[in-house]
Amino acid sequence: MPLSELPPPMGTTSGASAGQESPLIRVPPPGPMSRHWAQRLARVECRALFHPEDTPSDPIVYAFSLGSNVADVDGNRYVDLAAGFGALLLGHGASRPSRSLEMQLQRTWTGLGDLYPSDAKVALLERLVSLYPKGPSRALLCQSGSDAVTAAIKTAVLHTDRPGIIAFEGAYHGMGYGPLAACGYRESFRSPFARQLNPFVRFAPYPHNESDLDRALQSVQHHLAHGDIAAIIVEPVLGRGGCIDPPASFLPSLFTLAHQAGALLIADEIWTGLGRAGAMLASNRQNVVADILCLGKGLGGGLPISACLAAEDVMNAWTRNPGVIHTSTFQGNALACSTAVATIDSVRSQKLDERAGRVGNAFQQWLRLAIGSYPQVQAITGAGLMVGVAFDSGTTASTVAHALLQRGYIVVTGGPNANTLTLTPPLTIHEDLLEKFVDCLADVLANLPR
Ligand SMILES: Cc1ncc(COP(=O)(O)O)c(C=O)c1O
Repeated sequence: MPLSELPPPMGTTSGASAGQESPLIRVPPPGPMSRHWAQRLARVECRALFHPEDTPSDPIVYAFSLGSNVADVDGNRYVDLAAGFGALLLGHGASRPSRSLEMQLQRTWTGLGDLYPSDAKVALLERLVSLYPKGPSRALLCQSGSDAVTAAIKTAVLHTDRPGIIAFEGAYHGMGYGPLAACGYRESFRSPFARQLNPFVRFAPYPHNESDLDRALQSVQHHLAHGDIAAIIVEPVLGRGGCIDPPASFLPSLFTLAHQAGALLIADEIWTGLGRAGAMLASNRQNVVADILCLGKGLGGGLPISACLAAEDVMNAWTRNPGVIHTSTFQGNALACSTAVATIDSVRSQKLDERAGRVGNAFQQWLRLAIGSYPQVQAITGAGLMVGVAFDSGTTASTVAHALLQRGYIVVTGGPNANTLTLTPPLTIHEDLLEKFVDCLADVLANLPR
């Protein structure tokens, strides 16, 4: 189908409400055009990304998107509470990154990796080091979250000359071999490749509340006692594992334990960082300054770019080796750097971290009031605008997600058994859209077959 035959761009309003419109369902999703594109996809995409257990057999196909809205190829308009798995901090097609990208497209698209940088790359690195909370720091640009975690693990190994990593049950750090070895989210992700993964990774339970805390810290202490641990890697708020905000003393305790044992603390802020969890850095909410930070997802404003950021003395471990030992072709890609600069500047100038905290708290309260007493709802969790609604089963969660899509809301499921609705709207979403979503979710639950 030629693109010219697609429905026209979405939206009926302009100004402040553009991209902040209520759902408009013209044909029950997925409509005929979505089914057509989905069939074509099913014939050509690797089945790694196409599995009946995880992939909806009836996907909608995106055609246009703006702000908090997505329009599919059938002309249905949705409110997007997935926002690129939390990556679209400013929403779809935000104006400042769009303008930066347009300008950068006229200038240069890419530099020459580690040899010749673009000015956009230098500007981004300067912004990134200014995010590190204490003392001088340095940043290493990467392309995906998985890449940034790989760089963080390599940095810790170089700095400590140790092979071991402590990771957490339920944690997700990406699918490259380094992060996969530390993936506590699902054993099935690791097991086919287990023979190729770092055998020095040890897992500890992630504390969901105060009563879990001692057991988690004791397990960490036990693993540290082996003396071979380079770093503890932790998500300050468990993302894919179900939007779990751990007890406040968890990260400070990890930092202390790691340092007592000569190990480093890596905060994987790929999901939580840049305001998503209600603070620029979720790891810094209790004044912890992790030795190494990973940023990704939201960093590029929708383009793929990530970063590993560390205290200067830690990052200097890379200089002990002769020559450059870590690079990639698109390292510091100028287009992605330009949108990343604009994204960081927008989050800062619009104080979207504070807004995410405030709106996220209100959102959780509305959810508790509206659906907290339904028997299928087990918990409402999260921090800022990463909110989880845990149901009694994965089946309930996917039934609810499907019903919400029919009513014009895009949501994804997460959590250990895919039993959690993971709600990560743009940090710019209008509050009335969230209120209407809560009403709709209550109505869906009221009408669930018993
Ligand atoms: C905490 C965390 N780390 C790392 C990753 C991997 O990022 P990517 O999918 O960009 O490789 C993710 C992705 O969801 C994540 O949530």
